[in-house]
Amino acid sequence: MSFKIPGGQKKATYVKNKFSVIANRYDLFNDIVTQWMHRYWKGFLVRKAGLKPGDSALDICCGTGDITQRLENVVGDSGKATGLDFSAGMLHVARARTANRRSRFLQGDATCLPMKSESQDAVTVGFGLRNLDDIQGCLSEVLRVLKPGGCFLSLDMGKVKIPLIRTLFQFYFFVIVPKIGKMIYPGEEFFDYFPHSSLNYPSQEKLSDILENTGFSNVRFFNFHFGSTVIHYAQKQSASTVTD
Ligand SMILES: C[S@@+](CC[C@H](N)C(=O)[O-])C[C@H]1O[C@@H](n2cnc3c(N)ncnc32)[C@H](O)[C@@H]1O
Repeated sequence: MSFKIPGGQKKATYVKNKFSVIANRYDLFNDIVTQWMHRYWKGFLVRKAGLKPGDSALDICCGTGDITQRLENVVGDSGKATGLDFSAGMLHVARARTANRRSRFLQGDATCLPMKSESQDAVTVGFGLRNLDDIQGCLSEVLRVLKPGGCFLSLDMGKVKIPLIRTLFQFYFFVIVPKIGKMIYPGEEFFDYFPHSSLNYPSQEKLSDILENTGFSNVRFFNFHFGSTVIHYAQKQSASTVTD
């Protein structure tokens, strides 16, 4: 467990560059380390967003765009699905996979969204918040761009409470996952970053508090695999329920 995550702005630059390096085989890595489960979690997340044809949805830290594509399937031709990421390499893969589709992809920072206020029916993020230095800043931006009544959904790693199971998961994340990554990209130390990025990431309860303190309501979360993976749901209060 000797890997050191670069601090401050250096972390953002490191993450941005490294995701571009592994972009071409990121989906393969994701499939193997989650035993294809990330596809189920992402489907669950998009269903929970409760979108309908014609809606607008934004997928931040979209990576190779698989959640964005699922959003597009729901909002249809009359709606708008946008993916946003700061890694040019990840966006290149996202654009290639959706070449004949309507999703659009923007290069940008999740803590400073290039969208109009109250323009989105839903904002999603998959395995993204964990990478941010300024989670609070990102959530404030998400709240700003959501329409009243719109919702935010985040899929990420969570904290396992049962000690024995926690130890097993830690072994898997800290020992096996980097080995799998290095088999796909020999010598790439970035795969040690993945488990370490979860160490300072808030527990499911703490993230719920942060969401509520940011101004979201109806905050709840869904645990998978003993809480090692978690989906948070949070809503922007609709105009009719705002009280003075
Ligand atoms: C682990 S990948 C997740 C990709 C995809 N959402 C998924 O669920 O598989 C994290 C993504 O977040 C992006 N990212 C990290 N920090 C970001 C930031 N501040 N602004 C925009 N994108 C960011 C990275 O470039 C990377 O593509």
